[in-house]
Amino acid sequence: MSDILDEIIKRNINVHRDSLLPLLQEIQNELGYLSDESINRIGQLTGMPTSKIYGVATFYDQFRFNPKGRFHIRVCHGTACHVNESMNIIRELERILKIKQGQTTRDGMYSLEVVNCMGACAVAPVMNINGKYMPAAEVNKIKDIIEGFVSNSSVYENCQ
Ligand code: FES
Repeated sequence: MSDILDEIIKRNINVHRDSLLPLLQEIQNELGYLSDESINRIGQLTGMPTSKIYGVATFYDQFRFNPKGRFHIRVCHGTACHVNESMNIIRELERILKIKQGQTTRDGMYSLEVVNCMGACAVAPVMNINGKYMPAAEVNKIKDIIEGFVSNSSVYENCQ
């Protein structure tokens, strides 16, 4: 893993604060998140303080600091979803999964991410599990939606 990391960082070795974003994005695309190891390695190879790297990374919502769960749940909080009460969906998911947005459950099963506009505003509020859209999500059906998705995934995986 650190070979891939080093290769990405070395490709962007002339990085400075303003151009840190593409490097962080490339690492996240490769690893799925920004690990402590990756932030420390950027610091070692570029001479940039890790506090500065974390400062840039935490400023943007697009970066994750935990690996994704087996079931990665994204909830839109863009304008159309916000006015259709997507915050209630986020709170319900945090309650059910016992994690906050940006976190992954301890067993690695679920992760929760809040994003801006998923391009399906007409059917807001929208959530998405492992890339499958759940339009017009209703708070009182969230638990059923997750359980249904998980049990269908198990059936599918058992057929492999
Ligand atoms: S604002 Fe949520 S899909 Fe566009």
